Amino acid sequence: MKKLLAGIVLSTAALFSQVLLASGDTVPLDKANIDVHNQESVIRGAKYFVNYCMGCHSVAFSRYNRLAADTGLTDKQVQENLIFTSGKDGEMSKVGDNMVNAMRPDDVEEGFGAAPPDLSLTGRLRGGDWIYSYLKAFYVDPTRPMGVNNTVFPNVGMPHVLWELQGWQKLEKNCTPAAGGEQGKAAADGAHAEAPHCTEHLVNMKPGKISGPEYNQIVRDITAFLVYVSEPAQLHRKTIGIFVLLFMVLFGVVAYFLKKEYWKDVH
Ligand code: HEC
Repeated sequence: MKKLLAGIVLSTAALFSQVLLASGDTVPLDKANIDVHNQESVIRGAKYFVNYCMGCHSVAFSRYNRLAADTGLTDKQVQENLIFTSGKDGEMSKVGDNMVNAMRPDDVEEGFGAAPPDLSLTGRLRGGDWIYSYLKAFYVDPTRPMGVNNTVFPNVGMPHVLWELQGWQKLEKNCTPAAGGEQGKAAADGAHAEAPHCTEHLVNMKPGKISGPEYNQIVRDITAFLVYVSEPAQLHRKTIGIFVLLFMVLFGVVAYFLKKEYWKDVH
């Protein structure tokens, strides 16, 4: 029993440390400014997702027809424009199927050193700002197997799949030597030799097919799609909440008058 408990505690701790390690939240993130209620944006995001991402990633908790219902598309539109996957039997996926690809994670893991995770819950786990910043943060790094690295997810196994659109970035390091004046003198004395202050930032080295703001919009749409997928009910949750609050206020008024009526003859 003790062993079992220790096992559970250890594996939970290991899980949390993995999540914390992977979150890499030391890098400041860009604001995604997504709007999951903007159906156009979510539809565009879904389109980019099925074209650029679904070769490796699934969003297995979602069905194509739920996406259709939530975004106001017809099943036919989804079948014709968004379904490029086939099931294990090799048949084209149907509109009622889950959004999974036929790839076997092990095959890809061999190629990339890490299996592409299912992204159904990534919008909740990582948050929109993280996904948005991550997709903008790939840079050329010849020391990595894929030739790219990422400032938001260091040493990531994923290649820069949107390179044609974004172009290539490199990481530039700017160091200001220890300041002059008093500090400089102190440094010269060897008393408080100050380390140079370095900052790193990404600069474009080869433009892509589209402009920077256009790329940001595409990444924003993909992020909106992934955040929507991670909790489709969020589209309706707030409206339901408002109705519940309205009901409580109205019920409160009725209850107040009812109470007055009941107690009016009691002295
Ligand atoms: C060629 C295969 C491939 C394609 C295509 C691909 N990815 Fe990935 N992706 C990966 C791999 C592999 C990882 C895991 C990286 C790791 O753990 O080192 C990953 C990781 C991620 C993660 C981090 C998940 C997490 O929480 O750890 C996100 C987010 C992501 N991909 C989004 C996308 C999006 C959006 C697209 C489409 C624009 C895309 N990926 C296309 C292979 C791919």
